[in-house]
Amino acid sequence: MNWLRRWPAAAASRPFRLKKWWATTRCFTRSRGKYHVQVCTNISCLLVGGEELYEYTAKKLGLGNKEVTADGQFSIEEVECMGACSWAPAIQINYDFHHYVTPEKLDQLLDGLKQRTQ
Ligand code: FES
Repeated sequence: MNWLRRWPAAAASRPFRLKKWWATTRCFTRSRGKYHVQVCTNISCLLVGGEELYEYTAKKLGLGNKEVTADGQFSIEEVECMGACSWAPAIQINYDFHHYVTPEKLDQLLDGLKQRTQ
């Protein structure tokens, strides 16, 4: 229980504050498109085509990892597990999850979003 008594002091320690400051700064400086597409390539998704789905998405949008389209509409990010392993492969667009994603389903999603922006 000693560690519990020391926790407030540890939380206020310099490394802890520095780590929190860095996370906050990264949040504001990372560039994202209006639609931020996150494709999971972790093990469950990887086994059912997550890596290919990421490559397909990147090619379709003409982007590399963490890049943004010139018009600022789309960005892409290869991510670790999003907790949707049972429905792999999974992607997240902004705050919306999409499960059992195929290239055809991805085309529909992205084309729908592109039409919304025009
Ligand atoms: S491995 Fe992709 S959501 Fe868990």
